[in-house]
Amino acid sequence: MERFKDAVAVVTGATSGIGKAAAIEWARDGARVVVAGRRKEKGDAVVSEIRDAGGEAVYIPTDVTNEGSIASLIKQTIDHYGRIDCAFNNAGIPGERMKSAAEQTMEDWNTVIATNLTGVWLSMKYEIPEMLKAGKGVIINTASFFGMVGSDFGIAPYVASKHGVIGLTKSAGVEYARKGIRINAICPGYILTELVGPALETRRDQFMATIDQRVPMGRIGEAREIARAVLWLASDDASYMTGQTLSVDGGVISV
Ligand code: NAI
Repeated sequence: MERFKDAVAVVTGATSGIGKAAAIEWARDGARVVVAGRRKEKGDAVVSEIRDAGGEAVYIPTDVTNEGSIASLIKQTIDHYGRIDCAFNNAGIPGERMKSAAEQTMEDWNTVIATNLTGVWLSMKYEIPEMLKAGKGVIINTASFFGMVGSDFGIAPYVASKHGVIGLTKSAGVEYARKGIRINAICPGYILTELVGPALETRRDQFMATIDQRVPMGRIGEAREIARAVLWLASDDASYMTGQTLSVDGGVISV
């Protein structure tokens, strides 16, 4: 059964990793998917993969740090598909690693906050009015287990941005709870994507030892394991859930 038959799902950061996996899963479950991201070639490849499997998708170039770009994404989505049922605000960057809070520069800080936090807020700012017109909608924002705890990896701006996403999700979830819009956050643990690529390339043994020591399940997660949880949050099975965070992290946050 196609749970999302004919629904329209917008996914930011959909050219790779968790966003790409969610776009593919949504299309497989019947949704018409907007693949939003900066990298046209990769976006087109995701669309081709979806269409080759019999699904429906379109790529719309998007930079979530740019308000005009997000406004255009939402306008083009409405022009193309007529509505937005589900939005997955997922684009994110790790920022500078191995730099203590005082070593991070103004630019380091601003870049991470602009993408991970302001980008999520701006996306909601343009998605919500369309959902209000329809009287319904679901939004999932990507936070992280680092939205709930601190880190000793020298990524304070990232940690701050993800805590911000959770606060934003709680507030927006409460504000629109009686307007038919559910807004939740997903908190992935360590997931095998481009985001962890540099750590895997430069210090693979150390990284895998970290996974072994810190993840109760003793393994890294797959992007698809997050995507499936995102679709569950977007589905009617989660109909009484809003303003919440869902951890999908192999147990990391519970240690
Ligand atoms: P990824 O690097 O494959 O995906 C991030 C996507 O966001 C990329 O496609 C990237 O091009 C896009 N993006 C970055 N800046 C953008 C911008 N300004 N405009 C539009 N798109 C932009 O890595 P992954 O892991 O799939 O990341 C997805 C989300 O999951 C991020 O928000 C990340 O912080 C979060 N996350 C990832 C974890 C992991 O271990 N991989 C753990 C917890 C959270």
